[in-house]
Amino acid sequence: MPTDNPRSVDPRFFQDALLKWFGRYKRDLPWRHTRDPYAIFVSEMMLQQTQVKTVLPYYQRFLKELPDWKSLAKAKEEKVLKLWEGLGYYRRARNLRAAAQAVLKDFGGKLPDTMDLILEIPGVGPYSAGAVLSIAYQKPHPVVDGNVLRVFSRVFLLEGNLKAGPGHQKAWSLAESLLSPKRPGDFNQALMELGATVCFPENPQCLLCPLLSQCQAAQKGLQAEFPQMPKTVETVEIPMAALLIERKGKVLVRKRPQEERWLKGMWEFPSAEGKTFEEALRKLEKSLKVRAQRKELHEVRHQITHHKIRLRLFPVFGLPKPRKAGNLKWVSSLKLTLLPFASAKGKLRKWVLRKSVS
Ligand code: ADE
Ligand code: SF4
Repeated sequence: MPTDNPRSVDPRFFQDALLKWFGRYKRDLPWRHTRDPYAIFVSEMMLQQTQVKTVLPYYQRFLKELPDWKSLAKAKEEKVLKLWEGLGYYRRARNLRAAAQAVLKDFGGKLPDTMDLILEIPGVGPYSAGAVLSIAYQKPHPVVDGNVLRVFSRVFLLEGNLKAGPGHQKAWSLAESLLSPKRPGDFNQALMELGATVCFPENPQCLLCPLLSQCQAAQKGLQAEFPQMPKTVETVEIPMAALLIERKGKVLVRKRPQEERWLKGMWEFPSAEGKTFEEALRKLEKSLKVRAQRKELHEVRHQITHHKIRLRLFPVFGLPKPRKAGNLKWVSSLKLTLLPFASAKGKLRKWVLRKSVS
């Protein structure tokens, strides 16, 4: 019976309905054919902020190139970033490599199977710990991601923001109390799967849902009112300038240093942000000792969370004499394609490469 009190939902019924549905309708995904903790760890790191459809080709390529902890631990950071290029949230890639190094150095080459120890690994938080422990080791730890929050908010009419504070706590304890002790990995995946393939943000497919008889939102026709999102943050525009500096068929690029806040270790055309394009350009001219033209060659836009980046590419006058610095490099267009570029800079590179062949 549907009820206003989540605690009175029968976990056994909930588990059976969900697991039966999962057994019949789960997607055939490559990481569901392995029991290798390494492969499962990689898949969960990729899936953490990215959709399955996007992850698939990356996962296959990553495992082919770096099939185990050892190969990943020994790989150059640049190689790992290149394999990650286009997936976003590049910190995950750097952490993954650091995680492999920790597994080898601190855990004798085996991913730990307890919550305490796995949380010591770089990049592992409660979400990925729960996912990996339950899926790779059948340990009874819950997982709560955006999909799970949406399902819970509807089934139990959970009000308010579930991503932080008491709502967040409540969702985790609900997940803990509902978790199947016998098949925690399947249970967690089934909940995420239901959110991804049936309980869509818009137009959830309630008639196909194994939880329909349990779902309070569906009973009351309130699916569209849940989850209740916090007010969205206003987007801010960020003017950014990049310089196209060419010499003898090569172009000057820069590796973003460790001090950068974003995209550490990724490459770019020398770039800066400012309150205006002019301010950004001046910063660049000063640091590279060049003079740039004021009319841009091209502009790309890239939105990431609430930042709306507008990146303009400007040519420089004459032959530049940039200070010699370890993170600057002249590269051919072939080498340019091989370096890891990201987001707006990746779009700009596409344009430059297209222009250089035409
Ligand atoms: N999202 C994150 N991990 C997942 C998994 N293992 N199955 C389905 N969706 C997921
Ligand atoms: Fe989501 Fe509808 Fe299923 Fe409720 S019945 S969990 S709203 S798909």
